[in-house]
Amino acid sequence: MKPRLLVTGGAGFLGSHLLHQAANFSATGTLHRTAATSIPDVSFHVCDLQQPQEVRILLDRVKPEIIIHTACSDQGENLSAIAPAAALLAAQAAERGIRFIHLSTDQVFDGMTAPYHEGSEMNPINPYGTAKFQAEDLVRSLHTKATIVRTSLLYDLRIPDRQTKQLIQTTKTEEPYNLFTDEFRCPIWVENLAEVLLELAQDDYAGILNVGGPESLNRWDLGMKLLQHFDVLPTPNIKKGTIEESGLVRPQNLTLDLSTAQQLLATPLLSLDEAKKAVKKMQKEA
Ligand SMILES: NC(=O)c1ccc[n+]([C@@H]2O[C@H](COP(=O)([O-])OP(=O)(O)OC[C@H]3O[C@@H](n4cnc5c(N)ncnc54)[C@H](OP(=O)(O)O)[C@@H]3O)[C@@H](O)[C@H]2O)c1
Repeated sequence: MKPRLLVTGGAGFLGSHLLHQAANFSATGTLHRTAATSIPDVSFHVCDLQQPQEVRILLDRVKPEIIIHTACSDQGENLSAIAPAAALLAAQAAERGIRFIHLSTDQVFDGMTAPYHEGSEMNPINPYGTAKFQAEDLVRSLHTKATIVRTSLLYDLRIPDRQTKQLIQTTKTEEPYNLFTDEFRCPIWVENLAEVLLELAQDDYAGILNVGGPESLNRWDLGMKLLQHFDVLPTPNIKKGTIEESGLVRPQNLTLDLSTAQQLLATPLLSLDEAKKAVKKMQKEA
């Protein structure tokens, strides 16, 4: 019998990749407003994860052994769902003895004292980071065996992700577009992160785990690498910029210390160039 896995945010970017890769599980995804594309052997349940009664009904029906909670990101206007949904799911999972993996972000940090390890002090400087910081605190106190995966920017190499799509679109216009040279992240290929999460689903690691790509890249370098991957030439309207010049409040350096994950996981954390090679190999084998 395959273990029963519930993925929240089943129509989201990470959630849908997880469900596509979850062949070793009996997998169910939650839907909210967006319809999912059908995935072989995956069932879906509509649920507002802020509603206690809906969450109880969902868990009674699916009876998951593992929950990977990807729902509630920085998209849409609903940052206020992040902490309550995480708390509801963590409390229910603890009560029912369900393994719980919660997705968090490098944006719980202020970007002033990188690299950040699992024990570094959180100090969010934007509303999204603050909501995810509150969610982490609630999850830790309500489910002591939960795994909190702090990750970085997610990108895709098959179909351009949201931000890459926007960048590609900008090459077809004359609209000015600045890519920061002073904002550093550890971007990770979404399929690589999904593989890590499915490995963790079968593990009993409890506590925080940083999971990102092994190189710290600034936004300009990441944007240029992704444009090149999708065979799009950068246009003169795409320029180097800095956070300081922009006047925006954004964490500058969110480089993660990945040593715990690198020792723990059988799944290697891939750089963008390694991820490109992996995609090419998969495409040749298909
Ligand atoms: N993408 C990144 O670069 C990145 C980086 C660091 C961390 N993360 C974290 O990784 C996780 C996955 O991110 P993602 O990019 O895959 O997110 P996403 O594509 O925006 O998906 C989020 C999903 O949450 C669902 N959702 C929102 N409110 C809900 C509610 N009240 N009840 C039920 N479902 C609800 C949305 O459904 P509807 O659209 O139908 O409302 C959507 O399917 C998030 O926790 C995010 O914070 C992402």
